[in-house]
Order: sequence, then C-alpha cells, then structure tokens
Amino acid sequence: MSDGRPLRVEAGWNSGGCPAGLFARRSFLQGTAASVIGAAGGSVLDGDAALAAVASGDQASGGVIPFYGYHQAGITTAPQTIGAFASFDVTAADRRELRELFRALTARARFLTAGGTGPKAPPDAPPPDNGILGPGVVPDDLTITVALGASLFDDRYGLAARKPTQLKTMQPFRHDDLDPALSQGDLLLQVCAGHRDTTVHAMLDILAHTKGAMKQRWRFHCQRNPPRPTGIPRDWFGFKDGITNPDTTNTATMDKVVWVQPNTAEPAWTAGGTYQAVRIVHFHLEAWQKVPVAQQERIFGRRKISGAPMYAVSDDAPDTLDPVYTNDPQGLITPLNCHIRLANPQTPETASTSTILRRSYDYERSPDKDGDLDLGHVFCCFQRELDSYIAMQTRLEDETLVPYISPRGGGYFFALPGVRNDQDYYARALLT
Ligand code: HEM
Repeated sequence: MSDGRPLRVEAGWNSGGCPAGLFARRSFLQGTAASVIGAAGGSVLDGDAALAAVASGDQASGGVIPFYGYHQAGITTAPQTIGAFASFDVTAADRRELRELFRALTARARFLTAGGTGPKAPPDAPPPDNGILGPGVVPDDLTITVALGASLFDDRYGLAARKPTQLKTMQPFRHDDLDPALSQGDLLLQVCAGHRDTTVHAMLDILAHTKGAMKQRWRFHCQRNPPRPTGIPRDWFGFKDGITNPDTTNTATMDKVVWVQPNTAEPAWTAGGTYQAVRIVHFHLEAWQKVPVAQQERIFGRRKISGAPMYAVSDDAPDTLDPVYTNDPQGLITPLNCHIRLANPQTPETASTSTILRRSYDYERSPDKDGDLDLGHVFCCFQRELDSYIAMQTRLEDETLVPYISPRGGGYFFALPGVRNDQDYYARALLT
C-alpha cells in the first residue's frame, strides 16, 4: 500500500459473539463474562489465529509486534510514529471486578495488537466494531502498555502491601504548574502504532470493553516527528531529541537500567516490570522563538542543526558523537547548567542516577483554554529505579530551559511485567 501499512485481512466477520456496546448498561462483570463465553465459543479470533491470518495474507507481517513476553512491548520497542497516553481512575467495585478488568484489557490488547477479525453481529444488532480500520483490524505495529499508579494500592482492593517500593504520587517540582485534571491516575495506557486511526480505534475498543470498571482521567494524542533531514526526530524546539539513550538491544544494559529484577527489595510480582515517569510539559514557543540560536544551543548543550555536542562546530557533524566534559570542568564549552549536563553530569557522584530510557512524544492541541498555543512534550521515561528519575529531575530544577517550559501534568506509574502466555493476564501475579 502506498502509505506503507500492511493490507487488512479480508476474511469476513466470524459468527456469534457479543459486541461491547451490548454491555454498556449492564454491570461490568456481566459484560466481561459474556465476552469470555463468546471467545470460548470461537466467536472472537484470538491473537495467534489473527496473527496467522495476517501472516498468511499477501501483506507483510512486519506490522505485528509480539504481545506475549516476559516484558511488555512498547518500552524497549523502537518508538512508533504515533503515541497516546491515557490515564484512568479505576471504578471496579472490588478485587474480583479488578481482576476481570485486567482480563478484559488482556483480551483486547492481545486481539488488537495481533489484528484479525472480530465477532459477527446479527443483521439487526449494532456492529461489534466501529469499522474505523475497515472490515478487519490491522495490527499496524500497535503496542498497548499497561502501568499502575500508586493510588491503585490504596485500601480499595487490599493491595497496599504489594505496592512497588518506590512507587508514589508525583509531587510538584519547584517550577511545576500541575493541573490536577492532567495529573496522576490509577492506571495508565500507553498506546503506540504506525498511524493515528489505529491508536484511536484501539482506545475506543478498550473503552467500550472496560466501561464501568475504569473512567478516563486525562488523555494525550501525540506523534514523533520525522527526521529532518536525517537521524533523530526534532521536538517543537527544533532540537534533535532522544539521541543519548541506553542501547535497547543490549539485554544486560536493559536489565541494569530498565527492568526490575527478581530477588530484590521489590515485591516478587514486579520482576520484569519497570517504573514509568510521564510528564506533560508545555513549551513556551513564542518566547523560545526570540532566543538566538547560539543561546538555544547553550541551553540544551547541543548544536541545533546537527544535534552534535557543543565541541563539534560543523553543521555536518554526526549527532552520534558523545558529549565529553573532562576538558571542560568550568563549562566554557558545554555550560554547567545546560539541559544535558545537568541531566547527566558525567561525575562519579551522579553516575547511578544519570541513565534512564527516554521514549517521549510531541503533542499539539492548540489553542489552549486561553486561546494560546499549546504545544509540548509528553516526556516519558522508563527506569528500574524511580529514584533515578527523581534525582535527575531535581538536578534539572536549575537548568536554563526553565523559563521556556511549564510542566503541567503526568504522574509516576509502574509498567506491569509482560503477559507470558494465553493462560496469563495483566497483573495476575499481583492479584493472586
Ligand atoms: C520536556 C522538556 C524536555 C526537552 C525539550 C528535552 C530535550 C532534550 C534534548 C534536545 C536533549 C539532547 C539530545 C539527546 O540526547 O536526546 C536531551 C537530552 C537528555 N534529556 Fe531531555 N528534554 C526534556 C525533558 C527531560 C526530562 C524531564 C528529563 C529527565 C528528568 C530529561 C533527560 C534527558 C537526558 C538523560 C538526556 C541525555 C543527556 C546525556 O547523557 O547527554 N529530559 N533532552
């Protein structure tokens, strides 16, 4: 296809099944029970079958990112072009309904990420799918990543003793202007794919199947810009953003930096998961536009056109060059209070709090409530220790970027371990 996405599966709808909308006025548990019965009767194409259907078609199967694994997809996965972050308040009545919520989320994520066809509705019934993606669901590199906020571990579901040790409610940093309507949440969904219709479709599907058990709190639809002209994408400040990141293909590095390991101070169920920090950061672009480029470069500590460190003056210098500060203790080349030098000062004292896995997206939702520009960053990072992120962000309180950004929301979450197989479901080890 001309837009590069895989062709959709042309098989017809299967017979039977219960469209999500039928459950809208019933209790959450009634709805999920009926869905499971439908699936057992073969009316819902499961992930493996859908995967096989996609692979056997005449389209490339490269659009499927495997759902099952020790870790969730969407963390070390190379960032897709489109990303959405949605935070929810969980309204499940009790622990049993909470478990059913996670089962329902698992079933939907497994199906949507594999693609295929859903149940067929009787001719006089509402359709089970909104048809946004055509007659079949295309996988489109979709990943759905589920994370929990500290508030889920309050007294509602008896989970307090199982809270990840470092998980807490995000407190405002010195320059934050947090809007409660854009902050925190019991559960975070990060939904990423090749195209926006795929993420919107996935979000609508999940909302329909979890109605009554969780309620939207805030949501951001975002993108990653294409490389201009090459290399790492630029953010709305015009700087290449995401250059220095740990190597996601190196298992040892990921185990050290990102994944919670077994037999640590953390509860056993957390192994294979990771802490996720999300910050909604508004950019003051009109003010930024008035800053000369040389000063912009000193604010970030990198060259604007090339993305290279400050010691590389050519516009053609590669952005892969590493920043080096050993010959610059006073910050004459790379200022001591610039963004990259405070994030990672390269000192022995800060070595343990200077590596995180960044996976951020850019948002644009102008005008804001005052009619002004609203562009920014949904900054997102994953790390084995949430305290690493907090230490880094605390150092950044003194950066010269501060007048040009307003952190307005987000929160801290724990991204669950992966769903291992078709007997497993999100948070099973937490809930059993
Ligand atoms: C929201 C506004 C932010 C913007 C516009 C931004 C932009 C950038 C840019 C342009 C770079 C240099 C290129 C690169 O290595 O990717 C960078 C590097 C980096 N940023 Fe940010 N960033 C933001 C927020 C944050 C936050 C909140 C953190 C963590 C608390 C952070 C951590 C880092 C790190 C660790 C590096 C690499 C430092 C190095 O080792 O050289 N950034 N950022």
